Amino acid sequence: YPTSVQAAMSDERFAGHEGEDHAQEVAAAAIISAGSILLAQRTYPEELAGLWELPGGKVHDGELPAEALRRELEEELGVTTAIGPRIGVDVDLAGAGSDSERYVLRAYLVQLIAGEPQPLEHAEIRWFTVAELRDADLVPNDRVWVDDLVRSMREH
Ligand code: CDP
Repeated sequence: YPTSVQAAMSDERFAGHEGEDHAQEVAAAAIISAGSILLAQRTYPEELAGLWELPGGKVHDGELPAEALRRELEEELGVTTAIGPRIGVDVDLAGAGSDSERYVLRAYLVQLIAGEPQPLEHAEIRWFTVAELRDADLVPNDRVWVDDLVRSMREH
């Protein structure tokens, strides 16, 4: 880049232009089929064990969010997926990491392409109907998405 552009890029006002202020992303999957959504029950940390979440995980350096989510879903559920559009708001994860990094949690609509989902890293996985989702013990961060998920489940 020319020097003038480098100066602009190192200006902190520029930071907001290249995605979330350098926040690391955690990508989570809304896998919806026949009006139900696939949720996974966490085993760790202690305060989240037993609670249900949209499966997913941290985007590694050099990965695109969609690549990361495809990898996580292969690792966690043993399935091949196609990552679709975003759903719901960004959720700020204050202190999600062991480091001082900021994390932002984002959900994506995801289609199953191949494989039968298995709980390879979770206690259990289960399909939830709209009524069951509304009643589910979700991890706190995912609760904000319920209305958006329900809307999408009713369209599928
Ligand atoms: O396995 P990895 O470390 O990549 O990810 P994780 O531990 O499953 O998730 C990273 C952070 O995002 C943790 O703080 C999770 O609690 C949070 N998370 C969440 O709040 N909701 C999800 N659906 C998935 C992750």
